[in-house]
Amino acid sequence: MEKKGFIDLDVDKSIDIIDEINRMRKKKNAVILAHFYQEGDIQDIADFVGDSLGLSQQAADTDADIILFAGVHFMAETAKILAPEKKILIPDLQAGCSLADSCPPKDFAAFKERYPEHTVISYVNTTAEIKALTDIICTSTNALKIVESLPENEKILFAPDRNLGNYIKSMTGREMVIWDGACHVHEEFSLERILELKQQNPDAQIIAHPECEKQILIVADHIGSTTSLLNYTIRHSGNSYIVATESGILHQMRKASPQKLFIPAPPKDSTCACNDCEYMKLITLKKIYNTLKYELPEITLEQDLMDKARGSIVRMLEISNRLQL
Ligand code: 13P
Ligand code: SF4
Repeated sequence: MEKKGFIDLDVDKSIDIIDEINRMRKKKNAVILAHFYQEGDIQDIADFVGDSLGLSQQAADTDADIILFAGVHFMAETAKILAPEKKILIPDLQAGCSLADSCPPKDFAAFKERYPEHTVISYVNTTAEIKALTDIICTSTNALKIVESLPENEKILFAPDRNLGNYIKSMTGREMVIWDGACHVHEEFSLERILELKQQNPDAQIIAHPECEKQILIVADHIGSTTSLLNYTIRHSGNSYIVATESGILHQMRKASPQKLFIPAPPKDSTCACNDCEYMKLITLKKIYNTLKYELPEITLEQDLMDKARGSIVRMLEISNRLQL
């Protein structure tokens, strides 16, 4: 099991997998938290579906004994740091994140040493080791507000996403040094193919996640986190949207506005569906069932590392609470 990163056991065909998940989560006082990029069937059984900020807030607040995280590793790790006494389960340990991987802790520690006067703000898509080297964590929902909440002359070192960092820098005019990392999913969107779609659907709004490259953000009518994109499609009076982020979010958009048209933005390489995050899509209902049943795989972290990483996440939650984000 450990080698594969998940429990590879078949589920008895005679049982109803969703009924069993419901029974087990009640009996074990477990909650299932799912990110918007999960498959629709997983989002539909979750106790809470949300963006990275919402999921961290839920993890910090829940009374459950077990949190099963239908998302990627850094999200489950964040939950463990916030709730070390709880059992945090992830249905597949291989569910990583290319953006988190683009910031190795050793290299980042050396980079940080070159900027001793800078306040370090890191995106939540980072390992616990990077969080331990960070002053304040942010998510795409609160990054702009967190940077704006700092005094104007404060120098900022932002990691690891260059696209989100440059977007915030352009919006705030703040002095920022930015780590050169990126998400392979959000850097795959094709401007040419998005503009072709726009020509075919002239009334469609282009909406994009700030992890997208600058040329995509320039043509976007709205830029924001997954929650912000979803809310925009609910409140906006239009009828069609070209959505430049991972395609899982379309499930909630279609549920909230069944009369509207949602078109996933296409990737540069037409032969691959790169607007799917293959890490997010490693999570399946069958793995969730086995994980709840055997309470494995579990996220474990050194106490010392958790203690070092917690302050930066708690600071983010405090600022978010204060600003009611
Ligand atoms: P959100 O916080 O906007 O949901 O983004 C998380 C993420 O991984 C984007 O790729
Ligand atoms: Fe990481 Fe990108 Fe997947 Fe988000 S979409 S979890 S940033 S690899």
